[in-house]
Amino acid sequence: MTEDVKEETLNSIAHEVQQNGEEITEQEEEEDEEEEESEKPAQTDSRIGRDSPFEFGKRNLTDNSDVWDHNAWDNIEWGEEQIEQANEKILEQKKFPVSDFDKNLYNGNPARYWDIFYKNNKENFFKNRKWLQIEFPILYSSTRKDAGPVTIFEIGCGAGNTFFPILTQNENEDLKIVAADFAPKAVDLVKESENFNPKYGSACVWDLANPEGNLPEGIEPKSVDIAVMIFVFSALAPEQWDQAMENLHKIMKPGGKILFREYSFGDMAQLRFKKNRFLGDNFYVRGDGTRVYFFTEEELREIFTKKNYFIENKIAIDRRLLVNRKRKLKMYRCWIQAMFEASE
Ligand SMILES: C[S@@+](CC[C@H](N)C(=O)[O-])C[C@H]1O[C@@H](n2cnc3c(N)ncnc32)[C@H](O)[C@@H]1O
Repeated sequence: MTEDVKEETLNSIAHEVQQNGEEITEQEEEEDEEEEESEKPAQTDSRIGRDSPFEFGKRNLTDNSDVWDHNAWDNIEWGEEQIEQANEKILEQKKFPVSDFDKNLYNGNPARYWDIFYKNNKENFFKNRKWLQIEFPILYSSTRKDAGPVTIFEIGCGAGNTFFPILTQNENEDLKIVAADFAPKAVDLVKESENFNPKYGSACVWDLANPEGNLPEGIEPKSVDIAVMIFVFSALAPEQWDQAMENLHKIMKPGGKILFREYSFGDMAQLRFKKNRFLGDNFYVRGDGTRVYFFTEEELREIFTKKNYFIENKIAIDRRLLVNRKRKLKMYRCWIQAMFEASE
């Protein structure tokens, strides 16, 4: 299994297990993985900077009878049957929505729930996202000695699992990297880390969807060359998307890039939600009060491009089939990855 799938699967499964107390297959997945790991040489960071972006993986399932031969398959096509099954599950979820009272609680102060999340989990929860440099080589090239002045802004930085891999390998004297999160505890974790290096890095509390349109500390208008948004946009309610676009538009340099990865419609994490988690179409609340949205490609395109603030460079769905060979279970994971460019 490639590093990105492994990290994200374990992260999101752990998040759900921890919050819901649900009995799921993390243990077996890990065991199954170990089995597979021993069959092939370990994947190492030697791929960094060499692969083209959006190469999600090359292990394709061409003959269905091979499905139990490996624990992960790339570029999975969804048939009618899977779409129908997903829709059925979602219809079931819709019958038992979150009560209006609870909705107001979760939507009223979403930062609070993330803050509690970081108080409970500290920096140990999400794994370092080293694969980002494979999927988005621009991040890697910005840290080279000769890259010149570059401002990277990470939004929804959490405990710094994207920020630190970039910061610690930086050789560019002119790099400025700013990390922001609306959960103060997350920002504290970043600032208190032994890897924090104030020479190039800073961190601040900032809400991507703040209605006042306030800028983050240390970020001038139209100054960001690269914005990194990894699993942060899904935490917003759909009513907040437009405000987030306004705020982003204010800070992005014309020609600047937004690197984006999120959960996509039909992902295992979506279909696993049980009763009383449904907040709205494709929008859910986890057991710990944190919210999560599952995007379609069309939706994402519309959000970013409708006001001509951003141009679509690439949107792709990363759809994989994870297999638990011991228990003969199939699990579909769907992520959406995109790159947008700020227009003039
Ligand atoms: C799933 S975590 C991802 C953390 C990190 N990007 C990573 O990939 O490891 C989502 C993060 O987004 C932050 N977040 C959610 N909504 C936000 C908002 N409106 N503004 C800024 N940060 C937000 C949360 O506090 C949390 O740290």
